[in-house]
Amino acid sequence: MTNTKNSYGGLARFFHWAIALLILTAFALGIIGDNMPRNAETVDTLKTLYSVHKTVGVTVFILAVLRIIWAIVQPRPVPLHPEKKLETLAAEVMHWALYGALVVVPLSGWVMHAAEVGFANIWWPFGQGLPFVPKSEAVSHAAGAVHGVAVFVLLGAVVAHIAGAVKHVVIDKDDTMARMTKGVSAGDASTSSHSLIAPLAGLGLWVIVIGGALAGNAMAVETAAAPAEVEATQDEPSGIMPVTDAPEWTVTDGRLSFKVAQSGAPIEGVFDTWNAQITYDVDTGLGTVSVNIDTTSLTLGSVTSTAKGPEFFNTDAYTTSIFEAEIARIENGPAHVATGDVTLIGQTVPVLLEFDLQVDGTAAKMTGQALLDRRDFGMGQGYADESTVGFAVDITVELTAQRAE
Ligand code: HEM
Ligand code: HEM
Repeated sequence: MTNTKNSYGGLARFFHWAIALLILTAFALGIIGDNMPRNAETVDTLKTLYSVHKTVGVTVFILAVLRIIWAIVQPRPVPLHPEKKLETLAAEVMHWALYGALVVVPLSGWVMHAAEVGFANIWWPFGQGLPFVPKSEAVSHAAGAVHGVAVFVLLGAVVAHIAGAVKHVVIDKDDTMARMTKGVSAGDASTSSHSLIAPLAGLGLWVIVIGGALAGNAMAVETAAAPAEVEATQDEPSGIMPVTDAPEWTVTDGRLSFKVAQSGAPIEGVFDTWNAQITYDVDTGLGTVSVNIDTTSLTLGSVTSTAKGPEFFNTDAYTTSIFEAEIARIENGPAHVATGDVTLIGQTVPVLLEFDLQVDGTAAKMTGQALLDRRDFGMGQGYADESTVGFAVDITVELTAQRAE
């Protein structure tokens, strides 16, 4: 069961191969999940896939903690070629980098999961949260950034590690592999013990990786705070089916506005009267939305009457605009898209509304943006260029809603 100075005992070998298998499984599932389209047809598969991913990952974490304790209290088998100082050090740094990965990778995933409102649960009876981890989009994002970077550092370390193992089999033809597979004894047990440099270098690597990932995430959050240009596309995401049994939500407060350039400077228009029917299922991230906008309730600075006139919203002939779309969560996070159509002055145009949704119990808060082009509706044909009125109409929606009980 236990190690000696020149062999790995049964428990160390069990930890090594069990964790290697589980980690490759978790990695493969993570990559598959990351590349799977998110829509109504894949949502069940995704849920199962991520539940398996998380359950395997949490198992890795628990085994890894036990393994590291075991590695510290047990004798570490001596290097087979102590005279090759650099190679020995490289192999040992890699081992400690891998121990670090076995903690950082699953723990970052776990924190990301604990901080967000559930999608795919860990299959176990001990709850889904973590002590000291609040339900917070910022925390979940930051942990997700660490997870996303750490998995690739892990991949790099595993590839280097396996390459080293293969070299020992193919080129050196020594017992390095046999020590880990069959537990044979090899190496001179009287040679000197291991240096502290390897664990410190392994730890240092992870301090840099985590720091880098968090700094990168903080910068990305700052950039995202600036309004992003949202391109309306017709074909993405595809295949979303209407969801009829999702819970209904009632809008309790909200603001519907848009920005358009007037002589090059943005002016803001606001619709005072509108209502929305929303269905949304927190578990699947799918839903529907239908908005009725009273275009006569528009105010647009000093040009309100021009805007309501025949050249633009033509409110004498058309008093309502309708937006109908299907909602899908695009990642396991707050980001969503509503893909559908907006009908305005008799023209129906596809639109993509990108929004963030935060659900807290039965209350939800959303902020979103969509970009339209007035020419698609044949609006302002007398203003053929952008010198007086811009083409882009940047719509912003902010609302809070309450789930019907
Ligand atoms: C050994 C452990 C693990 C490995 C090797 C691993 C690997 C991966 C990989 C390769 C991805 C795809 C890349 C990415 O989206 O950034 C991923 C995504 C993900 N992992 Fe893990 N993971 C592990 C443990 C966990 C654990 C324990 C949890 C949660 C309890 C978790 C939750 C997630 C989630 C939610 C995503 C999706 C992130 C997104 O799409 O936004 N992972 N993981
Ligand atoms: C199929 C792939 C793998 C092969 C062929 C392999 C091979 C080996 C061998 C031969 C050793 C002994 C090295 C020595 O005695 O100096 C070893 C040790 C080690 N391997 Fe792997 N390995 C594989 C996958 C992994 C993975 C995925 C990890 C983890 C994350 C890992 C982590 C370690 C660690 C930390 C050690 C140090 C000893 C211990 O605590 O178990 N290995 N590996």
